[in-house]
Amino acid sequence: MFYEVKQWGILEMSKEKLKVDKIRFIDPDVEEAKIPDQKEFYQLPARFGAIPLDEAPLGWEVETRRREIKITKFEHAYPKIRLPFQEVHREEFGHNDKFEKTPLFPNGANRLFFGDNLHIMRQLPSNSIDLIYIDPPFFSGRNYNVIFGDNNEIRSFSDIWQGGMPGYLIWLNARLFEMKRLVKSTGSIVAHCDWHASHYIKVEMDKIFGYGGDANSPGFRNEIIHCYRQGGRGKNIFPRKHDTILWYSKTNKWVFNGDPIRIEYHGTGGYISKGRNIVGGKEYKINPKGKIPEDWWDIPALNPEAKERIGYPTQKPRALLERIILAFSNEGDVIADFFVGGGTTPAVAQQLDRRWIACDQSRIAVAITADRIRKVIEDTGNLFAVPDFVIEHWGIYEIPELEKLPPKQFREFIVKAYGGRPENIHPKIHGARRNVPIYVGSASQRSQITKKDVAEFAQAIWKERHSNFGTMLGWNFSPDARKASQILAARENKRIDFVRLSLVRLEDDEFNEHVRTKHPDYKELLSFVQPPEVRIYYERKESCKYVFDASESVSLNKDGEIANIQWDFDFKNRFTTTAGYSFLRDKETGKPQLIVEYQFPKTGKFTIACSVQDNQGGEKTEILAIEVE
Ligand SMILES: C[S@@+](CC[C@H](N)C(=O)[O-])C[C@H]1O[C@@H](n2cnc3c(N)ncnc32)[C@H](O)[C@@H]1O
Repeated sequence: MFYEVKQWGILEMSKEKLKVDKIRFIDPDVEEAKIPDQKEFYQLPARFGAIPLDEAPLGWEVETRRREIKITKFEHAYPKIRLPFQEVHREEFGHNDKFEKTPLFPNGANRLFFGDNLHIMRQLPSNSIDLIYIDPPFFSGRNYNVIFGDNNEIRSFSDIWQGGMPGYLIWLNARLFEMKRLVKSTGSIVAHCDWHASHYIKVEMDKIFGYGGDANSPGFRNEIIHCYRQGGRGKNIFPRKHDTILWYSKTNKWVFNGDPIRIEYHGTGGYISKGRNIVGGKEYKINPKGKIPEDWWDIPALNPEAKERIGYPTQKPRALLERIILAFSNEGDVIADFFVGGGTTPAVAQQLDRRWIACDQSRIAVAITADRIRKVIEDTGNLFAVPDFVIEHWGIYEIPELEKLPPKQFREFIVKAYGGRPENIHPKIHGARRNVPIYVGSASQRSQITKKDVAEFAQAIWKERHSNFGTMLGWNFSPDARKASQILAARENKRIDFVRLSLVRLEDDEFNEHVRTKHPDYKELLSFVQPPEVRIYYERKESCKYVFDASESVSLNKDGEIANIQWDFDFKNRFTTTAGYSFLRDKETGKPQLIVEYQFPKTGKFTIACSVQDNQGGEKTEILAIEVE
């Protein structure tokens, strides 16, 4: 596919420099996600001689081969891989018939993804989201801001910090570039940053979205300072009490609703001191007769006692998200947060009658977010804006949910996860990868592919395809199946109908080789997990007061450990954690607190539910009935 070169400042330069006459873009899917022409902003300063000018974002790749330029975008740093989404849970509120299915919402429900956001975004349709808010991990040093502590989060932290600030920016740029493709032409992207990297991120975002400047240019619109007083205070520097929020629009037309966010200030503006922390100041109230807030927002950060607080340091206040969502979107619009953490963005979006997409690579974050949405819907009774939502896994798949799939769906899923194309022409050939036919065994993890399956598949590929190669994918192979495949292969050089079969166990490295070999960081992107085994003991301490002990629970996954436990002490058909019991950490060690105390409000029969996540992405909810005395 060949494109006009003129609109690309960077290409104009490269074309001349590299003496090429063709430019090729390698992926027509993302055709309209371009970086803007930066010519006016980046002019070669002749009087300084040939200084290097970096007008392309860090990590952006332009390859030249045989007088042809190939734009590989960020794919050198992060090669593309496609894997299927696994719906592990649908939370139904009984109103799903109202909502149409679209390419972004194929199930008609809002979507909460567990997985790496770059790869997930690459599988979502262009021009489909109205507003993206992100609060990515700050650039603050190795493991420093690991929040939830499961393996996927920790692994990604070590990837991000490789190469210091440039490495962090390349990691972020690849994601920002995808976001630009996903937002609609009137859409916005809002990035929440702190002092560590906000200025570097702005430079990169200017390159990806445009420098903005005037109303006719796409790109940068506002740098908003979120200031607050809460939290600790050092003595030798001015306390760092602001974050920087960068707002970009995709084009020169954008949604901005001033009216719903008009405010009026109340109070003296004086400080209110509580212990060592300054917790308050001038307060504002929404007032339609007030003014549109300035580009500095005095919104209190969450103090340790705030009711909405879940218990991890980077949780953003609802009031902040309310202002962002009201200002940059309309009712019914689609709001996305690809670094969702504890779910502030979708919770507020849900409450403000917007549809939403959310994503996190931590299974704990996904569990906390799901809980938060259920609570918003139950507390407000707000059934508008698609109350149903689905939890979808990308890359880390739950075995029991796979086992429940009907045979055809299971086979399609496995073929896709193996990087193949499903087929439905012959009962024994379920797909193909690079023209090699694939057979998939049955869904039950205890099943085995037998000698008979091997013989039938070999016959089918020889007869139907006149091929000598095939791949069998299954949980297990019986010893005689392996032997049969060896006999078939040994006929090579003796007979023309020899068949060489690869027998690949789904849990072996061979199955995910197509992902692992693309990039060293991808080695754990594709795996199958079991839910943990949950064991709960309880003991009465005094009237209505009980101790619950889940410390005997075990992860059934390799290198697995229990990473978090959530409790619902009054379970009624739907798991919603009891306030203060969704993310409990031991104050000294920071490790998950597996033994908890609870004071029931009265005696009688109660149903308790306990949801346990391990550090490999496994999750299980256990329910038990108890007579409180
Ligand atoms: C700063 S927190 C977001 C907090 C959130 N704004 C809130 O109010 O709760 C950043 C989140 O990004 C997630 N994250 C980091 N890298 C990611 C990736 N590549 N894909 C998906 N999520 C990622 C982390 O697991 C963490 O939960």
